[in-house]
Amino acid sequence: MFKPTVGRQIFKAINASHAALAATSRPTTGSFIRPLSHTATRATKEDDPKLDPNMAATPKAPEGASGEHEGQFARTDENVQIPYPPDSEMPAQPIVQGRGGMHFKRTLAQFSLENKVTMVTGGARGLGLVMAQASVASGSDLAIVDLNKSEAEDQAGKLIEQFRKENPGLEGMPNITAHYADVANPDSVNEALADALAKHGRIDNLVTSAGFTENFDAISYPFDRMQKLWGVNVDGTYLFAIGVAKHLMERKAPGSIVMIGSMSGAIVNVPQPQAPYNAAKAAVRHLASSLAVEWAGHDIRVNCISPGYMLTALTRKILDENPQLRDKWTSLIPVGKMGTPEDLMGAVTFLLSDASKYITGADLRVDGGYTVT
Ligand SMILES: NC(=O)c1ccc[n+]([C@@H]2O[C@H](COP(=O)([O-])OP(=O)(O)OC[C@H]3O[C@@H](n4cnc5c(N)ncnc54)[C@H](O)[C@@H]3O)[C@@H](O)[C@H]2O)c1
Repeated sequence: MFKPTVGRQIFKAINASHAALAATSRPTTGSFIRPLSHTATRATKEDDPKLDPNMAATPKAPEGASGEHEGQFARTDENVQIPYPPDSEMPAQPIVQGRGGMHFKRTLAQFSLENKVTMVTGGARGLGLVMAQASVASGSDLAIVDLNKSEAEDQAGKLIEQFRKENPGLEGMPNITAHYADVANPDSVNEALADALAKHGRIDNLVTSAGFTENFDAISYPFDRMQKLWGVNVDGTYLFAIGVAKHLMERKAPGSIVMIGSMSGAIVNVPQPQAPYNAAKAAVRHLASSLAVEWAGHDIRVNCISPGYMLTALTRKILDENPQLRDKWTSLIPVGKMGTPEDLMGAVTFLLSDASKYITGADLRVDGGYTVT
């Protein structure tokens, strides 16, 4: 905890340095005119920072106290390479069991997504799949879009099975479909939209979760990989957003779009270097704000969710193999643990539903407090 006495000491030290400065810079005769702004002059002996009153007031840990070099724990390390498995070996995300379905607790009707059709890109796995499940549990029909169509089909079947189990005796089952798209390819996006419209008749909500990250230091990042990363994370988000917005405008219908950014769009993760991913997620966040303004007159809301470190089947596998990385990451999260995909269920339902009717252009950080420290 920050003790008041420590605060007072720092305050005194700063005051003392200001007093020392004032004594050297103040004219000795005539009236003292206070300049509009004052920049402290540095001590001339630059080789001895102790002579610089500003430097002397800066607390500094003893040599070696903060690792091999100062600032070590707050910097990227080009040697940290997180091994992401090839797509064929990506682990499947299990369906959330027993906590998604019908319940009899009172809650605001505004949170319901009944009579809506929600499209989720990247919905076959990870966060996208769990957010897709949240929309179904809240009453929506669902169109899953993914590069991996067989996984999307498989999960669509499991979602229906789970819904049936959690809602015994319910007659109307949700319509859940699976569609192929490479989100970075405009033709593929248009085909997926046409396919989903043919099966559902309309789309009301969109969640763009297709995306990926990888780690290279900026100098060694292969250019074609960087283009692919931006293609999927940024172009893919943009293409689906404009496709769904165009459809909503033609129908003169309201809609809600939720873009999945990342806390990496606001902070720089350490120690793994990933500059293009961070920049891509910053782009996603500001794209949401920009489109929110552009489409506000059409009753189309656009918001962003920025998750922190979330424990998906994939991140669980990576961290089980790299316990040091897991410890490093969790040490930086104020709540002291990584999030789970289920932690996004309420956030996405809120932003898709009428409960957030007056919220557009917002960035909802679901990061256990990571970005506020
Ligand atoms: N997991 C985290 O800790 C975390 C944290 C912050 C943000 N995010 C973001 O959340 C989103 C989902 O991440 P995840 O962890 O669930 O990843 P994931 O790899 O588990 O799932 C991503 C899904 O997107 C699909 N996909 C990838 N490229 C595609 C393409 N070109 N076209 C269509 N589908 C494609 C994959 O097949 C997969 O089903 C990403 O945008 C990611 O950047 C994740």
